[in-house]
Amino acid sequence: MDANENELLTRIGPGTSMGGLLRRYWMPIAGVSEFKRDRVKPVRIMGEDLVLYKDLSDTFGLVQRACAHRRADLSYGFVEKCGIRCNYHGWAYNETGQCVEMPYEDTVAPQTKYKNRVRIVAYPVKVHGGLVWAYLGPQPTPELPDWEPFTWENGCRQIILSEVPCNWLQCQENSIDPVHFEWMHTNWSRRQAHPEAALGPRHLQVAFDSFEYGLIYRRQREDLPADHKLWSVGRVCLWPNCFFLGDHFEWRVPIDDENTLSVAWFFSRVPKEKEPFVQHEIPTWYGPLVDPETGRWISTHVMNQDFIAWVGQGRIADRTKEKLGMSDRGILMLRRQLHEDLKSIARGEDPKGVIRDPTVNHKIKLPIAEREFLERGLSLDEMRAHPVFRAHLGRFVFQAGQPGAVWEQYCEAMGIDPSAEIDDREVVRI
Ligand code: FES
Ligand SMILES: [Fe+2]
Repeated sequence: MDANENELLTRIGPGTSMGGLLRRYWMPIAGVSEFKRDRVKPVRIMGEDLVLYKDLSDTFGLVQRACAHRRADLSYGFVEKCGIRCNYHGWAYNETGQCVEMPYEDTVAPQTKYKNRVRIVAYPVKVHGGLVWAYLGPQPTPELPDWEPFTWENGCRQIILSEVPCNWLQCQENSIDPVHFEWMHTNWSRRQAHPEAALGPRHLQVAFDSFEYGLIYRRQREDLPADHKLWSVGRVCLWPNCFFLGDHFEWRVPIDDENTLSVAWFFSRVPKEKEPFVQHEIPTWYGPLVDPETGRWISTHVMNQDFIAWVGQGRIADRTKEKLGMSDRGILMLRRQLHEDLKSIARGEDPKGVIRDPTVNHKIKLPIAEREFLERGLSLDEMRAHPVFRAHLGRFVFQAGQPGAVWEQYCEAMGIDPSAEIDDREVVRI
């Protein structure tokens, strides 16, 4: 790749080509459960400083961070029945960005209706699957995808946010990179536990396909039968910036060119014995990245390991220096598709996977290797014996820092003893 192409594919600020592409999709930017206590949150997305709030009518709004008056920081504002009010002189805005009150001007010069002529930047916001979603692109607004897992029942869900200090594209390239599981997750985890541990099973073959909502990778590994679902179904690089593994999504949402918000949504189906189970609120927590004792990146959990790879590639990976191999055919497909999308946009068409038809947007099915389990459920004993879902009966292996309250709620839902930890080192995501 030459330097110009690397710039083209990685820069996402306002006015850039890739920024224009990514803005054509709804992006998850927060968890609904974050807004119970503090109803106002500063967010930086796609290179823009914004404020996400939930007003006293429970309407979410996403507006520019600087007040129109004299630019005070609206993330220190407070919410009203309708909208957010600046803490400096009390100007108030609704979720469309329209100024709805200017207390002093309204008092001394109501006839001028000055407020009607003041509007700040505002973007549409929706709530789905316990996530708050924003759309920063051109009108008309597309459908917010109703992916099937958002509609599943009998699951204990959680949302994890982390701010990763590197560009979004190197994070997303990880979503179409099957071989890294063998090394980064299986082998590195084993060697962290035991310096002379045996290496895990090798990949024998990988394959990549395109489908309506993204790309798929498939793998044959020496320990799996040739007709295993990881070959016949595979995993999904969900377009344009998500990784979908059947029971969880990982979005890589650009904060700006050099930072990415990792948004993970996990679904753990409770054992049959615990059904029916209803989770009234999906907890949201922030995953730490650095071990405070050593100052090094945390390396014990699956996604933390991924973060190490991504930030290790630099703030914006220099793809002019990479040497790609046969394992990287998916990476090339991903980059080619981004170029195709840019051409589609130039022709006035939608890029890949944008959903316009509301009749299609209902429990949209995606390829899921473990579909049978997720639809039918398993007993506790069956789960204990399952190579993948065993991981759901132990400590959370995917990201470090799960709060105790989330862990306890999880144990209660799954019917497991919080003190009885299984050895989760060997339980890695395949
Ligand atoms: S700066 Fe916001 S009301 Fe004055
Ligand atoms: Fe990974």
